[in-house]
Amino acid sequence: MLILGIETSCDETAAAVVKDGTDILSNVISSSLKYHKKFGGVVPEIAARHHVENIDKVITRSLRDAGLNIKDIDAIAVTDGPGLMGALLTGVSCAKAMSYTLDKPLIAVDHLKAHIYSAIMIEDAPIFPFIGLVISGGHTRLYLVKDFNRFGLLGDTVDDAVGEAYDKVAKILGLGYPGGPVIDALAKKGNSRAIRFTCKAVNGSLDFSFSGIKTAVLYYVKNERRTTSDERRDIAASFQEAVLNVIVGNSLKAMERYKIKSFVAGGGVSANSRFREMMQREAVYKDFKLYFPPMYLCSDNAAMTAGLGYRLYKKGIKARLDITARGGCAC
Ligand code: KG4
Ligand code: ZN
Repeated sequence: MLILGIETSCDETAAAVVKDGTDILSNVISSSLKYHKKFGGVVPEIAARHHVENIDKVITRSLRDAGLNIKDIDAIAVTDGPGLMGALLTGVSCAKAMSYTLDKPLIAVDHLKAHIYSAIMIEDAPIFPFIGLVISGGHTRLYLVKDFNRFGLLGDTVDDAVGEAYDKVAKILGLGYPGGPVIDALAKKGNSRAIRFTCKAVNGSLDFSFSGIKTAVLYYVKNERRTTSDERRDIAASFQEAVLNVIVGNSLKAMERYKIKSFVAGGGVSANSRFREMMQREAVYKDFKLYFPPMYLCSDNAAMTAGLGYRLYKKGIKARLDITARGGCAC
């Protein structure tokens, strides 16, 4: 079964064709990142305009790359949220129009659940239940996943999401946007014990809070007045270690609490090398199965939307033509 996926939740205009939920025939992404860089973060209006200007080209290209005609497609899956409202609306409106005019089924896909699916779509899926973690620019969430349509929320972002914290700390250090990859690289050369930044779990729950540590970094840098490149490395390493300790800690707690032996992580921050290293060490030590997306599926893409869309369709879950975008920050 061939699914066309459409994703426009943040700054990537993406379309992909996926066969039977696992076989990626095409995966086209047009990013507006370069237009946001000088603002130090995603500007919703710029992202929305980029989607409107590029969605048709991206879809056409995805069909061409897959060697298919639109008539060959069996269903259309679209990200309906969470994300930037203006951005999501382009994808949702386009998918609805295609579904109506071509008389193809429409499937609405949750962006965060699709991020988790990206880690299991090209491998043999782990046996349910598993603990799923989304770490992205807009969310930090833990789920108990019992099926492709049964995600129980265990822990959530109470303020800044983890990717947002990386981006803000990078801005404080003058490292540009997006901050995650730069801090990841810089932290490798720094001493993570140099500065004691604290980041605690929220009241013993599985929720996450990262705005405090971002402010701590800000005051630290202000007090120092001038930071050398050596200090920036140490700040990056110390910040990252504190943040990842909480994420890894909550993830392990969730697995212990629900006696789960499989862990699946997705979202932009799941590309982080130190996070992967920490989880891999825990997986060996605590004997659980670990799934990460391949690097090309970590950030926003439509292959994961089409893939999860297929799984939902197989369960008889279809969307009506009166659906609309669900806002809420995704980046
Ligand atoms: O999932 P994503 O592409 O978009 C959202 O849905 O939010 O995630 C983007 C986030 C950005 O905050 C970016 O800085 C972060 O992922 N990121 C990383 C790394 N690569 C991207 N964070 C830490 N380490 C990385 N290697
Ligand atoms: Zn995302």
